[in-house]
Amino acid sequence: MAVFFNELAVLIFYKKRDLQNHLLHLRKEGKRIGLIPTMGALHVGHLTLLEYIKEYCDVRLCSIFVNPTQFNNAEDLEKYPRPIERDIDNLKQAGCDLLFMPEVSEMYGENEEWYIELGELDSILEGAFRPGHFQGVTQIVSKLFDIVKPDVACFGQKDYQQYLVIEKMTRLLEIPIELKLCPTVRETDGLAMSSRNVRLTEKGRAQALIIYKGLIYFQQHIEHGNFERCKIKVIEMLESVPDLKLEYVEICDLNSLESLTDNATNETVIALIAVWIDGVRLIDNMIIHVEN
Ligand code: PAF
Repeated sequence: MAVFFNELAVLIFYKKRDLQNHLLHLRKEGKRIGLIPTMGALHVGHLTLLEYIKEYCDVRLCSIFVNPTQFNNAEDLEKYPRPIERDIDNLKQAGCDLLFMPEVSEMYGENEEWYIELGELDSILEGAFRPGHFQGVTQIVSKLFDIVKPDVACFGQKDYQQYLVIEKMTRLLEIPIELKLCPTVRETDGLAMSSRNVRLTEKGRAQALIIYKGLIYFQQHIEHGNFERCKIKVIEMLESVPDLKLEYVEICDLNSLESLTDNATNETVIALIAVWIDGVRLIDNMIIHVEN
């Protein structure tokens, strides 16, 4: 029997079949299933997703799976934090009902191939700097959706492009599911919560605040006609931090993530930033209402 009640009272499943059998019973009772896919190293941001999804389902299922196919950097995969005991404890405190924690061999066969046509979304911003990343994300998320068949799934706004990619995938594959986007959770000083933050040195942690400051600059200064000027200013701010490596600063359309120029008339835009600090890749974004 591969189902365990651990002392923390979260039902843990390691095998797809066991999870599916359990879900079958819940569905017969008319329960709505909510899924929160994660790669573990849970922080308050993840636990907020659990809280957020509560009102849309009866049973909350969290998955923890460090998905190898979405890493285009072997070192990043190897260094990805895996504090599993602490994760389980956090899930229990957050009132999570079920945890799915499969091995790689449970999720992938030998040399599995996958490709889904995501269009521009696959090759811009994150897609440009992490080739193949979104193919890996859609591969694992489609597997999770197929195994769990959740009524609703929740993702964080910090990975906004990922959310749009998953939304597109569900449309293309006609997966009947409700997707929810949960606002980014920040530390009190503004840094977006991320599992990668623990890898920052004290100095890097302090330097990383410039990302939030850049987003706030956009929020306070963006007007129609000054997008380029604002971008130049934020790039200057970021580049003034020694050792920071800038990947992108963009102001984009909220639906397509197409980069917007000074001619844009969008009422709402999204500003996105990606940088490396201390050998750690950090991303963040902010949805902004543009003043005329
Ligand atoms: O956002 C993440 O943690 C991952 O990309 C996800 C959605 C769990 C897929 O592995």
